[in-house]
Amino acid sequence: MSAQAPVKRVTVPMIRAQKGETPIVCLTAYTTPMAKSLDAHCDLLLIGDSLGMVLYGLDSTLGVTLDMMIAHGAAVMRGVAHACVIVDMPFGSCEESPERAFRNAARVMAETGCAGVKIEGGVELAETVAFLTRRGIPVMGHVGLMPQSVHAHGGFGARGRDLDEAKRILADARAVAEAGAFAIVIEGTIEPVAREITAAVPVPTIGIGASPACDGQILVTEDVVGLFSDFTPRFVKRYADLGAEVEAAAAAYAEDVRAHRFPGPEHCFGQFKANKKATA
Ligand code: KIV
Repeated sequence: MSAQAPVKRVTVPMIRAQKGETPIVCLTAYTTPMAKSLDAHCDLLLIGDSLGMVLYGLDSTLGVTLDMMIAHGAAVMRGVAHACVIVDMPFGSCEESPERAFRNAARVMAETGCAGVKIEGGVELAETVAFLTRRGIPVMGHVGLMPQSVHAHGGFGARGRDLDEAKRILADARAVAEAGAFAIVIEGTIEPVAREITAAVPVPTIGIGASPACDGQILVTEDVVGLFSDFTPRFVKRYADLGAEVEAAAAAYAEDVRAHRFPGPEHCFGQFKANKKATA
């Protein structure tokens, strides 16, 4: 009998070293079963605060709490053996001070067992990123479209279209890279800016709606498999339509129950006595 080789887990330094190599494959995950399905295929799984909109029906990510992120982070960790797992820091958990951010991030690391955290923000949060990374907490940056600042920006439109904004995004990426981020998500940003950032920073860039110029790609899994259709951004490619399959399964189940076709003898313990004659 041959023992199965233990799965080698992808580490933060391995992600960092993938700059300019084979594109880094990332997806979001919020639950144990989904994490199990994605793990073998991904380099990195992110518990994104997008879970507020995708799982909880919120209309932005602003209502997501640290406790929600920790509960879902721990659930994902229970389903993962291979991918590097990163947990998003929710709105309000890092902005007050580097010390407060450290306490919150340390809680996330200790209570989930994840490999690092992601922080949305550029120049204004660079000092916090440095504070955390100097104390052993790997940080992934997030620049360009930052959903936690949706109200300040006034919407989810693509970023970097005007020169001043393009310069600001580049400065944000440079600042978080210099502060020690091991990778940077670039969200909803036009291709030339994403390309320039990718060339300018020594760490991998992970694009979402930021073109193939990035060192890797990430999407929200529920968008990819058709389980979230409130709004589908242009940059999403859908690979399955599970939402329609779930609806069809629910309809078939409902029909079976109403027609006394379910449960059948194979689903029962002891003697089976149909309540009513099943209709075909
Ligand atoms: O919250 C999230 O899922 C994210 C990804 C979209 C990058 O930040």
